[in-house]
Amino acid sequence: MKAIAQSGYGPASVLSLRSVPEPTIRPSEVLVAVRAAGVDPGVWINMTGQPYAARVAFGLTKPKVAVRGRALAGVVSAVGSAVRGFAPGDEVYGTTGSGSFAEFAAVPSARLARKPNGLTFSQAAAVPISAVTALVSVRDGAKVRPGQRVMVIGAAGGIGAYAVQLAKAAGATVTGVCSTGKVALVRSLGAAEVIDYTAEEVDRDGPVHDVVIDTAGCRALSLLRRATTPRGTVLLAGGGHDAGGLLGGYTRQLRAPFVSLFSSQRVTGVAAGERAEYLEALTPLLEDGTIRPVIDRVYPLAEAPDAIRYLAEGHPAGKVVVTI
Ligand SMILES: NC(=O)c1ccc[n+]([C@@H]2O[C@H](COP(=O)([O-])OP(=O)(O)OC[C@H]3O[C@@H](n4cnc5c(N)ncnc54)[C@H](OP(=O)(O)O)[C@@H]3O)[C@@H](O)[C@H]2O)c1
Repeated sequence: MKAIAQSGYGPASVLSLRSVPEPTIRPSEVLVAVRAAGVDPGVWINMTGQPYAARVAFGLTKPKVAVRGRALAGVVSAVGSAVRGFAPGDEVYGTTGSGSFAEFAAVPSARLARKPNGLTFSQAAAVPISAVTALVSVRDGAKVRPGQRVMVIGAAGGIGAYAVQLAKAAGATVTGVCSTGKVALVRSLGAAEVIDYTAEEVDRDGPVHDVVIDTAGCRALSLLRRATTPRGTVLLAGGGHDAGGLLGGYTRQLRAPFVSLFSSQRVTGVAAGERAEYLEALTPLLEDGTIRPVIDRVYPLAEAPDAIRYLAEGHPAGKVVVTI
């Protein structure tokens, strides 16, 4: 099959369109003919092997899995002997460890769900990692309640665009933080207030937000806390674009428990798992229009390296998708 693969870590130029063997499935896995694959910053981390701590999981000297991409939507081609609930021909979405920038992917059935009705494959592929992280942030991490004020930093990004919509749907009044060109988009997603970070900082209104969800990852914890109520929650979803060193931009997540210890505010990281139950929670919200995927750009498979380059610039308006 055709796939975008790499032999060693490096910039997007290490990727190429190759012929690779079709993945074989284990009894608990489903073979999916991929129609579209989501691109997210994790793909860049997997490609570059940075920050270096990521190599513990992805491979010390080169990626253990050559094919890139994780999120996907497609059609079931075959099911493993232990799989229940999926059959060839089903339209599905989820995440794979075998690489989704490929014609076929092996997907554990526990990470797969029926594709929401009414969504294209590209829209569905834009959901699994980003919307799941937003869901885990808003619903589980911050436990957003009606009447709360919620700030989303990086409100036009892959996670942020969903977080704004989910917080609004939970009954919160949302402040979105984005650059000038994204203000209208963030308002259209349901933000009551928008802070253009090129003109004003996130503490513009003082400590009024019950919850601050930071996906951009580039601000000091002290600044985020100045936008948060005394008993509020700062949720660190992202690590920003500082890829250097062992942990890149993720040192704030390590400091968070210590900061919480000496503060009435809760400062915490969020780690979203890849589980079908999260997708199943999102499916009805996508089907009834409570939330919608925002697609910035769509690239054909052969141009997946350009898709990653674009995402790595750090300013997508919603999601970037690769079609197969
Ligand atoms: N915790 C988890 O489980 C988990 C899961 C997935 C991803 N992540 C991480 O979460 C982060 C965000 O992921 P994503 O998919 O949302 O990334 P993304 O799609 O690249 O979006 C990042 C957003 O950050 C905004 N941004 C850039 N500089 C900014 C600044 N100085 N201030 C405010 N906003 C700024 C950009 O908007 P503008 O154009 O407006 O600047 C962009 O929309 C990444 O670090 C990723 O690795 C975490």
